Amino acid sequence: MAVLGFSSSPIIGGNVDRMVQAVLHKTGKVTHFFNLTELTFSPCRACAHLCAKDNRCKLDDDLKHLYDRIASSEAIILGTPIYHGNMNGFMTLFLERLWAFRHLKFPLKGKPFAVVTSGGGLNPPEKAIEAVKLRMTAYRATFIGSVWFDSSILPCFNCGYGLTCKVGRLFDVYGEAGQKSMKITKEFFKRWEDSPAVVSRIDELGYKIKSFLCQIP
Ligand SMILES: Cc1cc2nc3c(=O)[nH]c(=O)nc-3n(C[C@H](O)[C@H](O)[C@H](O)COP(=O)(O)O)c2cc1C
Repeated sequence: MAVLGFSSSPIIGGNVDRMVQAVLHKTGKVTHFFNLTELTFSPCRACAHLCAKDNRCKLDDDLKHLYDRIASSEAIILGTPIYHGNMNGFMTLFLERLWAFRHLKFPLKGKPFAVVTSGGGLNPPEKAIEAVKLRMTAYRATFIGSVWFDSSILPCFNCGYGLTCKVGRLFDVYGEAGQKSMKITKEFFKRWEDSPAVVSRIDELGYKIKSFLCQIP
């Protein structure tokens, strides 16, 4: 039995990865971390007749080996970057594939889960958090809480054209004058560890999961 953490960020070692890892650590439990972008898996094919009986998806890809571990886990931490104002594609596919857990039996029933997200400051986090909650509560898991970090990291910071392009978000956010006088330094790549508010939210969330698990006989 372990607490499992899944990050759907393609930025390996980025804010989402480290936030999920920090919540895992704070639970004080045996934990396992997975970055979903390192796995190969496809969307749900709606072959309900194949997964309904035993709650196991039959698609032969990297998620195949995770179903048993997810079903027997103590808790699940789900981390997603905000893309297009919502959870990203890897998280959407992953949660869709857990649909095998929604049939006659609900292996995730009552299982605690938490949501972690990081965004570029262009959208509030609620839509992404609600999207994850919607899927997980359909599987009857129990929402414990969420934490969000406004990284303000725009993809324009490392696309190579950020300081000249007129159609990207950097231009929208900083304006022509801001863009002209700007130097993209490492300070623009904010880290959640430097935000005391986020640090304490992460601590709280880890503690809440730990307390929830202590109450389970
Ligand atoms: C395809 C794409 C779409 C994005 N869309 C948004 C967005 O809609 N709103 C936002 O605030 N940030 C957006 N971002 C920025 C990321 O959310 C931001 O960089 C965040 O820090 C990513 O977390 P990570 O570095 O841990 O992966 C987008 C980034 C990419 C690559």
